[in-house]
Amino acid sequence: MVVPTTFEPPRPWDEPCSPDWIRRLPKAEVHLHLEGCVPTDTIGAEDSRRSGVGFDPQDGTPIFRDLASFLAFLDHSCALITDGGQLEKIAYDIAVRAAANGVGHVDVIFNPVHWPAWRPDLEKFVGHLDRGFASGEADHGVTAGLCLSLTRTQSPGESVELVDWLLSARPDRVVALSVDGNESAAGRTGQRFAPLFERARGAGFHTCAHAGESSGSEGVRDAVDLLRVERVDHGIRAAEDPALVEQLAARAVPLDICPTSNVRLGVVTSLTTHPIERLRAAGVPVSVNTDDPLLFGVSVVDEYLSCSEAFSWDPVVLGEVARTSIESSFAEPERKRGLHAALALFLGESRAPGPRSESSGDDSC
Ligand code: ADE
Ligand code: ZN
Repeated sequence: MVVPTTFEPPRPWDEPCSPDWIRRLPKAEVHLHLEGCVPTDTIGAEDSRRSGVGFDPQDGTPIFRDLASFLAFLDHSCALITDGGQLEKIAYDIAVRAAANGVGHVDVIFNPVHWPAWRPDLEKFVGHLDRGFASGEADHGVTAGLCLSLTRTQSPGESVELVDWLLSARPDRVVALSVDGNESAAGRTGQRFAPLFERARGAGFHTCAHAGESSGSEGVRDAVDLLRVERVDHGIRAAEDPALVEQLAARAVPLDICPTSNVRLGVVTSLTTHPIERLRAAGVPVSVNTDDPLLFGVSVVDEYLSCSEAFSWDPVVLGEVARTSIESSFAEPERKRGLHAALALFLGESRAPGPRSESSGDDSC
């Protein structure tokens, strides 16, 4: 099916790199957690006290000490979602926000450990999300895929059980296997997870992994060499190892980076010192994403704008970042071609120059 494209054409009066120009720039978001799309007002005062997290009085977003306190908060907030209608709305609202940010496709990571009410019936869980995404696509032209995520710190038995479920249930909406959670608490787990990623790949699923967020560059090496993922989530600490940076650039391994998340969780000290610019300048394909938009109070447009200001990114660089977001997404090939074509049109290029690995169809959306 060809999804109608809802991108607005470029307007000559929009200043390149302005918020409006960035909003219209066709792009994908490939690093977005379902857990980070639970509205913060779901969480009452009592729950937030129990989770040990305070709220910013100005913008109402939670304040996290670090990744560990953040992950503990997700256990509290997601446990409050017990009704299928809530899940459908969370999925639908992801599409609404995507459309408002010029995002035509989203890859959404979900991790069953945070959703105790749904853990016994993941098929039902995914069914509710599927309905919300289908309505979002029908109303806003945004396509969505789900990435089932394992947890770095979970028992081997639990992760095997989840992959067994994925390979037997094979819900249409789930397109990838992923792993997230706290790498520094788990230690080096590449060897343990490698066979599971191999099984998922063999069964036709895409793969991605959080690495180089709470782990160092060795975590990124393990994600690439042992898990053999198509895309590394974060991956920013690869910047500490020049040989690895060279390898990522030579092999064109995309990093889906979430600058505000990295600042808010204390992974980097500030946006201006964020390694994204060094990685990009060294030839590593990077995309810009929100991670957990409602918890960090950011949008995709905010993230592109912040990077554009911090690193003086011009329209060519912003176009390249948007192109990487589309190319590294797990959207269907036909959808990717449509998004590449919309981007090329927006940038005033005569044809989409994105890699064309699939059989060459025409470029129309
Ligand atoms: N789950 C949600 N956001 C995450 C992050 N930034 N790192 C690891 N696990 C996560
Ligand atoms: Zn993440």
